[in-house]
Amino acid sequence: MKNKAGIIGVGSQVPEERVDNYYFEHIMDTSDEWITTRTGIKERRRIAEGEASSDLAFNAAKKAIESSRIKPEELDMIIVSTITPDSSLPSVSCILQDKLGAVNAAAFDLSAACSGFVYGLTVATQFIENGMYENILVVGVETLSTITNYEDRKTAVLFGDGAGAAVVGRVEEGGIRSTYIGADGSGRDYLQISAGGSRMPASHESVDKNLHKVTMSGSNVFKFAVRKMEEASIIAIEKAGLAPEDINFYVPHQANIRIIEASAKRLGLDMEKVYVNIDRYGNMSSASIPVAMDEAYREGKIKKGDNVVIVGFGGGLTWGSAVINWSL
Ligand code: COA
Repeated sequence: MKNKAGIIGVGSQVPEERVDNYYFEHIMDTSDEWITTRTGIKERRRIAEGEASSDLAFNAAKKAIESSRIKPEELDMIIVSTITPDSSLPSVSCILQDKLGAVNAAAFDLSAACSGFVYGLTVATQFIENGMYENILVVGVETLSTITNYEDRKTAVLFGDGAGAAVVGRVEEGGIRSTYIGADGSGRDYLQISAGGSRMPASHESVDKNLHKVTMSGSNVFKFAVRKMEEASIIAIEKAGLAPEDINFYVPHQANIRIIEASAKRLGLDMEKVYVNIDRYGNMSSASIPVAMDEAYREGKIKKGDNVVIVGFGGGLTWGSAVINWSL
């Protein structure tokens, strides 16, 4: 018989420094009013100089492991989703493996942008269900401030830094009832970083032209996001054998409050059942969902036995959703 996989521990970490909308009023042609009404963001967090993704990931992971009551040596695998690793080699997951003392864990990073945590959760679920592994750490971490172009008002105001983590393990009751992931690479130009890879290695010119920073076609991503958030949620709910009215809580990717509200409305969900922290953190890409999930749990908004939908979309283009019967 198949094992049941569930989330047995959660944790998160955001940097200390808060960057509010007024900061941007001083460096570019924008306003707190525009940013608040068009995105829902009031402030975001930024790492300190010398800090990197693995530092945030380590603290989030430590909290998740403590809450799961397992020891780091009991981890069989570490999956880190990030588009902002400390460097392209080694992986953030290997740095974590060492720092955590998770000596028995295999470790790799995955790249699926804002959907990455759901991709990681999906991979972890397979290994637990098929019996190969017992405990897997899944982390979403981003330091988007390092790839943000602070001269581009269309993107600069949107992103923030943070990390969220979950330990996926065997559970007797409840657990991860369904996962669904997908991609459409034909939309790859909508969100991209041109330089720093094999196509355009770093050069003086690439740095001078800001080509290591993210660019985005906001309106194309917006339309895709509203459609996909609903579609992916419905597919995960159906795969779980449930209907939208069986959903107790919704933890969507935090990219824009208007996207969150539109998708909740399409699903017939009251905003009271929807977790929102975009006002405090902006878009943290693959960290958004695990940070929101951790906060919702700690605030008592998600309780044992609740059916929770997590859903995300992002660069690639990619998307992912899952229904979790909360077992913590
Ligand atoms: N301050 C002031 N004006 C701004 C601005 C800012 N920070 N950013 C853009 N604008 C301006 C634009 O230049 C444009 O002006 P113009 O008409 O004179 O050219 C105007 O606002 C409207 O721009 P538009 O891009 O149509 O705005 P929008 O209502 O679509 O909002 C986003 C822009 C980025 C907030 C929105 O498209 C969005 O959230 N998209 C999805 C982004 C996303 O999810 N990304 C992450 C994927 S994980």
